[in-house]
Amino acid sequence: MAKSTRNMQPGFKKYILEDSTYKGGGKKIVMPDGVTVHKLSSNENPLGYSPKVKEALANTLDDLSLYPDNTDIRLREALVKDFDGVLTVDNFITANSGSEIIDMISKAFLNEDDEVIVSQPCFLPYTAFTRWMGAKAINVPMTEDYDYNLDGILEAINDRTKLIFLASPNNPSGNYIPLTDLRNFIDKLPDHVVLVLDEVYRHFA
Ligand SMILES: Cc1ncc(COP(=O)(O)O)c(C=O)c1O
Repeated sequence: MAKSTRNMQPGFKKYILEDSTYKGGGKKIVMPDGVTVHKLSSNENPLGYSPKVKEALANTLDDLSLYPDNTDIRLREALVKDFDGVLTVDNFITANSGSEIIDMISKAFLNEDDEVIVSQPCFLPYTAFTRWMGAKAINVPMTEDYDYNLDGILEAINDRTKLIFLASPNNPSGNYIPLTDLRNFIDKLPDHVVLVLDEVYRHFA
């Protein structure tokens, strides 16, 4: 956004005006003739989607003029089954995307000047949503092998730390955190810190 335009919008939060918006991966990849590439970087599924999805969508077309069920209770009940009943419907929240959940978490927990620990390279919304709340993203970089520096993260925690974002498997590196390392890490976290463990690529891995 040009500076002159910014000045004409005095009501906007400075954190939002100062920041860039998230741009997802490009749509097209140009490859030499005869080479087929299956693009996966924006969660595309080269196998297409399930015929059951098509059937479910077709069955609801006539209801488009009605508000949907905003409790998403059927989805949450299905998730309880998927997790073998270990969790309850109250353990789940639903949204239109993983990014929206990250946005909701940021809004729910972050005040101005709070700190959030991330490890670069990481999924861009972790830092963008943090900044949009006026909070500060503290980077504890990944190691040369793109593993999390979990000890470094523990050392970076202070009284202002509110959230820690860990993605396992990570985007963009693909590494995941071994279970024992994760358990040891969680055991050492102080009570005022909320760990956001993003397993969006669990099924893919
Ligand atoms: C690590 C990570 N978390 C969350 C998301 C959000 O997923 P979506 O908004 O596509 O549901 C992505 C998407 O690229 C991601 O890479």
